[in-house]
Amino acid sequence: MQDFYTIDDVRTGALPPGAKLGVVGNPIAHSLSPHMQQAALDADRRGITYIRLLCERTPGAFAELMHALRRAGFRGVNVTVPFKRDAYELADERDSLSESCGAANTLFFGEDKTLCWNTDGPGFARAIYELSHLPLSEHKIVLLGACGGAGSALAVQCAQAGCLQLTLVNRPRPELEQLEVSLKTYEKKENGILALRFDEERLATRLRDATLIVNATSVGLRASDDLLPIPADILDKKQYVYDIITHETPLVREAQKRGCTAANGRRMLLWQGVYAYENWFGDETFTSARQESLAEKMYAAMLSAANA
Ligand code: ATR
Repeated sequence: MQDFYTIDDVRTGALPPGAKLGVVGNPIAHSLSPHMQQAALDADRRGITYIRLLCERTPGAFAELMHALRRAGFRGVNVTVPFKRDAYELADERDSLSESCGAANTLFFGEDKTLCWNTDGPGFARAIYELSHLPLSEHKIVLLGACGGAGSALAVQCAQAGCLQLTLVNRPRPELEQLEVSLKTYEKKENGILALRFDEERLATRLRDATLIVNATSVGLRASDDLLPIPADILDKKQYVYDIITHETPLVREAQKRGCTAANGRRMLLWQGVYAYENWFGDETFTSARQESLAEKMYAAMLSAANA
């Protein structure tokens, strides 16, 4: 089995036996999704192989690859950077989160329609519940990197959940104000949805008030990075800190040093994967016990791959 396959492999049938699901992105070689998803597929004895698919970043390449996969009998795909908007645009029917944020991470090729979902938002909500034992609706949230691909889905998820307060933080760009305006429809009287740039003074107050600080920026992504998206000395031990990056970042380390309850993004990655799997095989009822048992197997596979 190769690290990844391309559209030529799909067209010529040069894929491993049973390849009917996969993850599409660019870059893609290091995705942990195959480890997780294969564990679930094997546990359920589905006889399906899950592969990585590298898509060119050229106009139309994503749609062409999806067309080829459909013809090759694929059931669906996970979609990652930079194709989540393309996935949303390609779908005929969308769930409400992908509809609201214009990005999807899961596609299902139905007989005559392609369906899409954004499971990043629900995956994030579940990870935060595990971290804090509180739903998003009970949190005052500062979201760093709110305009990024993942950040904008989380922003919608937090706003739709009716969190107590939501501060959307990004470097200056027009989308920041647009996001604030679009999310105002979910604003409760007390929750003050506010967009701020990193250099605004009001950010310090919002950070101190927050019960949950989320990093959705790419600061800390490179293992060699020692950068933090916010000054560590503003963190308080009563706060929860969540970094959607799937390895331990300087932010998570600093937060833990200061007594905060902090975690990296692996549980979000896990739960978005569980929900994607559920969508592909949605003709079955997934009890919460079944979800938990799949999640356990998927997480073990992810951790062993991440630590290998
Ligand atoms: P994506 O493709 O998902 O948008 P990205 O380009 O890595 O991923 O950016 C993710 C987020 O990290 C964005 O909000 C980005 O801010 P910009 O919108 O200003 O690009 C943010 N980000 C990246 N580097 C950053 C930095 N040095 N400081 C603060 N935010 C940063």
